[in-house]
Amino acid sequence: MQMEQYPIKDKFPRLEQLRQNHIVIKFGGNAISGHDELKRFAKDVAMMRSLGLQPVLVHGGGPEITREMRLRGLEPRKVAGLRITDTQTLEVAEYVLGRINREIVKALKGAGVDACGMPGHHGGMMRCVRKDPILAYDEEGNLATVDLGHVGDVESIDAKPITLLTASGMVPVVYPLGKDDDGVLVNVNADTAAAHIAAALDCEELILITDVPGILADVNDSESLLDEVSIKQVDELIEGGVVKDGMVPKIEACRLALEKGVRATHMLGGKDSEHLLRQILDGKHRGTKITNG
Ligand SMILES: Nc1ncnc2c1ncn2[C@@H]1O[C@H](COP(=O)(O)OP(=O)(O)OP(=O)(O)O)[C@@H](O)[C@H]1O
Ligand SMILES: [Mg+2]
Repeated sequence: MQMEQYPIKDKFPRLEQLRQNHIVIKFGGNAISGHDELKRFAKDVAMMRSLGLQPVLVHGGGPEITREMRLRGLEPRKVAGLRITDTQTLEVAEYVLGRINREIVKALKGAGVDACGMPGHHGGMMRCVRKDPILAYDEEGNLATVDLGHVGDVESIDAKPITLLTASGMVPVVYPLGKDDDGVLVNVNADTAAAHIAAALDCEELILITDVPGILADVNDSESLLDEVSIKQVDELIEGGVVKDGMVPKIEACRLALEKGVRATHMLGGKDSEHLLRQILDGKHRGTKITNG
């Protein structure tokens, strides 16, 4: 997309409002990956910056962590879309997320964006407690209490490390590792971390970019996209089994962000940058809007 196509302030009344505040954009490891996609995304971020917007980026790395675990002979395990994180898994997550973060920052710098990469615990930003065991269907399909290991619940976010960066024109790029009060590292789902960060920034919009166009009524049919879902419908969708795996923390993240005052949340597919810029510029998109109703 060329800059000239979107130059006119009057044409995009949302811009003025969006400029007042942060936009948190989270993207997953399958949504935007590889050199070309990262390059394209970095150009979009450069465009946002040139329009005076303040994007804050949060990224996951699920598929890459899974790949690296298999390379090391470890078996990845997930329950309710959350990774069971033993000590070896945590080591892999730290290594892989740090590597992805450097690649993203490099791509952004290549596009002229002054980016700063950091883990969620940087500067005491994301304070966590170790997550209690959860009641969920285990890998054999039985309802059980599952201990997720080194997985954290976010207790609080100190947004200052982020606002200091954005105030000086930088784009923070955060990966979702937190620490508890004893300094022990924990893994946090990236959607959950993004929602807490968005809430702490009292931001205008949380955008979750993933490898599907949004919430699908049938996960195997990309045409079955739900345009709009209210937070009242979230439980129904989870209990009815429509939303499962990695979509569970994603929809919960939207609910949390909206409940904490974030004005709007959207899910978009990452393979076409048109959706992201259109969503930001004129609110039109192909994706799922989660509403507060
Ligand atoms: N109803 C649904 N609609 C769409 N996707 C669904 C649904 N139910 C389950 N999913 C799954 O959720 C996945 C997206 O979550 P996933 O955690 O895999 O990716 P991500 O969060 O974008 O990446 P990362 O975990 O690396 O941050 C989709 O690829 C799809 O398989
Ligand atoms: Mg995920």
